[in-house]
Amino acid sequence: MHRLEVREYLHIRSRLSDSSSAMARWLLQILVISSLHLISLSSQQESRFVYENFLNQEHLYLDKSAKVLPSGLLQLTKSLEHQIGHAFYKKPIELSASRPLSFSTHFVCALVPKPGVEGGHGIAFVVSPSVDFSHAESTRYLGVFNVSTSESSSFRVLAVELDTIWNPDFKDINNNHVGIDVNSPLSVGIASASYYSDIKGINESISLLSGNPIQVWVDYVGNMLNVSIAPLEVQKPSRPLLSQPINLSENFPNSSRLFVGFSAATGTAISNQYILWWSFSTSRGTLQRLDISKLPEVPHPRAPHKNFSPWIIILVVCLAAVVLAVLAGIYFRRRKKYSEVSETWEKEFDAHRFSYKSLFKATKGFSKDEFLGKGGFGEVYRGNLPQGREIAVKRVSHNGDEGVKQFVAEVVSMRCLKHRNLVPLFGYCRRKRELLLVSEYMPNGSLDEHLFDETKPVLSWPQRLVVVKGIASALWYLHTGADQVVLHRDVKASNIMLDAEFNGRLGDFGMARFHEHGGNAATTAAVGTVGYMAPELITMGASTGTDVYAFGVFMLEVTCGRRPVEPQLQVEKRHMIKWVCECWKKDSLLDATDPRLGNEYLPEEVEMVMKLGLLCSNIVPESRPTMEQVVLYLNKNLPLPDFSPYTLGIGTFAPVLVDAASLVVSSASWSWSAPSMSSSSANHSPYACQSGDQPWGQTLDTKNSLHIVPEPEKPKTLSAGVKTVTLPA
Ligand SMILES: *[C@@H]1O[C@H](CO)[C@@H](O)[C@H](O)[C@H]1NC(C)=O
Ligand SMILES: *[C@@H]1O[C@H](CO)[C@@H](O)[C@H](O)[C@H]1NC(C)=O
Ligand SMILES: *[C@@H]1O[C@H](CO)[C@@H](O)[C@H](O)[C@H]1NC(C)=O
Ligand SMILES: *[C@@H]1O[C@H](CO)[C@@H](O)[C@H](O)[C@H]1NC(C)=O
Ligand SMILES: *[C@@H]1O[C@H](CO)[C@@H](O)[C@H](O)[C@H]1NC(C)=O
Repeated sequence: MHRLEVREYLHIRSRLSDSSSAMARWLLQILVISSLHLISLSSQQESRFVYENFLNQEHLYLDKSAKVLPSGLLQLTKSLEHQIGHAFYKKPIELSASRPLSFSTHFVCALVPKPGVEGGHGIAFVVSPSVDFSHAESTRYLGVFNVSTSESSSFRVLAVELDTIWNPDFKDINNNHVGIDVNSPLSVGIASASYYSDIKGINESISLLSGNPIQVWVDYVGNMLNVSIAPLEVQKPSRPLLSQPINLSENFPNSSRLFVGFSAATGTAISNQYILWWSFSTSRGTLQRLDISKLPEVPHPRAPHKNFSPWIIILVVCLAAVVLAVLAGIYFRRRKKYSEVSETWEKEFDAHRFSYKSLFKATKGFSKDEFLGKGGFGEVYRGNLPQGREIAVKRVSHNGDEGVKQFVAEVVSMRCLKHRNLVPLFGYCRRKRELLLVSEYMPNGSLDEHLFDETKPVLSWPQRLVVVKGIASALWYLHTGADQVVLHRDVKASNIMLDAEFNGRLGDFGMARFHEHGGNAATTAAVGTVGYMAPELITMGASTGTDVYAFGVFMLEVTCGRRPVEPQLQVEKRHMIKWVCECWKKDSLLDATDPRLGNEYLPEEVEMVMKLGLLCSNIVPESRPTMEQVVLYLNKNLPLPDFSPYTLGIGTFAPVLVDAASLVVSSASWSWSAPSMSSSSANHSPYACQSGDQPWGQTLDTKNSLHIVPEPEKPKTLSAGVKTVTLPA
């Protein structure tokens, strides 16, 4: 009858799937499957059944934690500690003397460990005269045995265990084994969980706790008990894992009926233990075949941290990649932004080096707000260092590295020049094609702004005199007071800075010489600004005399409040020196005075400064005074020498012919020459500042103080002869 039903069902099912009547198919499935899942054929001799799932619990005896899940899974133990679960087929196998006991069973089980916990204890297929296991214990007793169970007791049972805990006192071989237990937890036959692969011809091991479904076959025929296991997709192995001779008739002497079923237990080791499918028969040939596709799904609890969908992981990886790329981009941009050039030879100047980053920050990224002005060679920015020091940063671009080393050496040496009328230089920074020079910030800008900018208040005569005296003192210091003779080479109003107290500060030490090293050979000799350049500059080169000439022009500039050459004026006024001299010749020297001064000056002082200006700008170099003498004249410590506007060389404007290229170069420049290189002092570093008192911090105004400065030692490492070098602002 049952078989007919099966055929009918299959027939109808195939027809229905053809006609795709899903609704009817579904209804029929519900109807038929529920009756089919348990197919039981039994006679007095024969017992046969299959559970394709356990939704139909007919003939099923469950106890303790055993239950059937909605998916059709038979759950023997859930993932709690010290659980026991039993599931038995309610109808016992009848034994008779005429027919010796034999049976075959095939089932699929799954042992799914709880995440993060050791899995255990295992499942046993049990043959027992009773379904009463009230005395049984959990853990290693698998819900079948208890502490006092031993072979000698009257307790009769056969158990085939899939054991996932290693109990050495039960002679277990490992924590992943299959055993045959007869009346005692001590296995009579035991083997590590594996199967004989007919294809490969070797034993393949299986992890019972993998959580994957495992097939188990138990066959008892002719007093021989064979046990095999295999993964789901593998056929029954041709060689059993265990083959144990047992006389079950002898083992169950007083029993006429035997129950078959399962037992499982947990301890502190925990697994979800399931039976998915079970087929049993007392005659081997009629065992139902397993259809893997109909097996219920085994739930796999996952560790919480693994509970990400692949999309989230991909998203996170992509985000991380993007963030990394952005960070790398920022890093490389910053590196490029703040990159500097540093060479080994610069090591000794490290102390004077600023990092580009610090200058970048100090000037707020060289922002327009901090822009002070554009000099001949670069832009100047105001900045604030973290210590609160105000600085001016000049950015000088250059084409090559040629001359840079020398230049840097000079920059550093400049630090040794200390005079209150010099703009202090703090250090430098070097980048590719760019040099940055850091000096003190002068709050009141350059002198020429105050002289020529109509919007600014007029500089009074005393203020102008103070500036002139200060610059004279600074030049005198440069010419005689430093280690080497230092030439400024571009004295003019726009290179004189004014500090907070309106003291003149010689500064904006331009790049003329540096530029020259950078490749413009045409300007080698003639560097300066037209109008301030002594006529011999072209032929003889720079000297203290050319500085004195420029200073003379500068004095006239300050007094007359005009530039040395003003082509827009009428011919007689066009050249300042000539014009001043003409005024003197007409005995009206004061006519040349800056009209903005009005009458607010001492005529003798103005006249003296103008005459001194003419004296200094004498075209005959030998007729010019030294800076030392200029300081003495200005401070009235020495009367001006006797000369008139008709004296040779006075009031003669000798235009210096320079080509257009060198006009561009006009800016301040330093240079020094080492007049006598013969000297000694081996240990003296050319870059170390001279220690000891330096009286140059103040304006010297008495004749007596002129010689208190000891003759400085000449550094040995500087090459002999006149050495011209460039220095910064
Ligand atoms: C062990 O099981 C046997 C048989 O079921 C029972 O007689 C005995 O009392 C049990 N021992 C303990 C300690 O529970
Ligand atoms: C496979 O396992 C069985 C049972 O444990 C053993 O008897 C047999 O020798 C093994 N065969 C191989 C090839 O390892
Ligand atoms: C049990 O295994 C042995 C070989 O180990 C085999 O000869 C015997 O036929 C098997 N018995 C059953 C019932 O499968
Ligand atoms: C098994 O045990 C029964 C009862 O003790 C006995 O009659 C039978 O001969 C035994 N079979 C074998 C093969 O030893
Ligand atoms: C000169 O600088 C000082 C200090 O910063 C300032 O107080 C003063 O106003 C400035 N004078 C002029 C004319 O800019």
